[in-house]
Amino acid sequence: WLHDLQIHQSIDSTNAELRRQTPFGRRASVCLAESQSAGRGRRGRSWVSPFASSIYLSVGWQFRGGAEVLEGLSLAIGVAVGEALGELGVDSIALKWPNDIYLDGKKLAGILVEMSGDFSGPCDVVVGIGINVQLPDGAAEGIEQPWADLRDSGQGAFTRSVLVGKLLSHLLPALATYEEHGFAPWRERWLAMDAFAGRPVIVDNNGRRLSGTAAGVDARGALLLSTGAGVQSIYGGEVSLRLQ
Ligand code: ATP
Ligand code: BTN
Repeated sequence: WLHDLQIHQSIDSTNAELRRQTPFGRRASVCLAESQSAGRGRRGRSWVSPFASSIYLSVGWQFRGGAEVLEGLSLAIGVAVGEALGELGVDSIALKWPNDIYLDGKKLAGILVEMSGDFSGPCDVVVGIGINVQLPDGAAEGIEQPWADLRDSGQGAFTRSVLVGKLLSHLLPALATYEEHGFAPWRERWLAMDAFAGRPVIVDNNGRRLSGTAAGVDARGALLLSTGAGVQSIYGGEVSLRLQ
């Protein structure tokens, strides 16, 4: 499965580092850091990344086939992370479409999938995962929404190397399965962890707002939004979802 495992004391962003190392081979490149000076979320937002208190993990993988099949990937990765945490006793994980992982309604972790390369042929994909383990006092001041770390799970202290081992044992097979079968085999498991199922939500597409009821996801990972005009499929990209 594994081509190499890189561990940095400090780096700008584990995703950025792996993107500098493309093209990837047929096995995974894994990059970990103790801290990030420019950790990033979606759409240029930053990911608060203090030293030795979280997991900053990226996996580089070359997908055969085009990028159009990758729209459900961050959902499948969310399932893999949720199931890995579940095996460690963290049982109240919920997933917010398309890329957030919640613990008791607060953001515990995020997923950032980036791709580069020729979209019609093999595509280099970087899957980045940030999980708050034990944020130091004051570090969370930069976080503009309710957040959680693994102390809130009530499971005692977590050893980050154990967590990383557990995560990789789920993530690498997940990438291989996704490459072969796409999102369809993940759908039921994603629905079982859906944070917003049946709840009134607002979808914000660069200021263009749609409200409706969250009705799960389809076989490609598109959000299903039930509105007065019927059920609409919403694709990821630049879209944001929040409760009404
Ligand atoms: P959406 O993806 O639906 O737009 P979002 O508001 O969570 O939702 P993202 O770009 O996915 O946006 O994530 C970045 C956001 O995550 C930041 O704006 C910040 O509010 C929050 N954030 C940053 N660092 C952390 C962290 N360490 N833990 C939890 N949340 C964080
Ligand atoms: C989000 O919720 O918007 C996604 C956050 C992803 C953060 C992780 S931390 C490891 C990897 N490196 C980055 O710069 N971002 C991802």
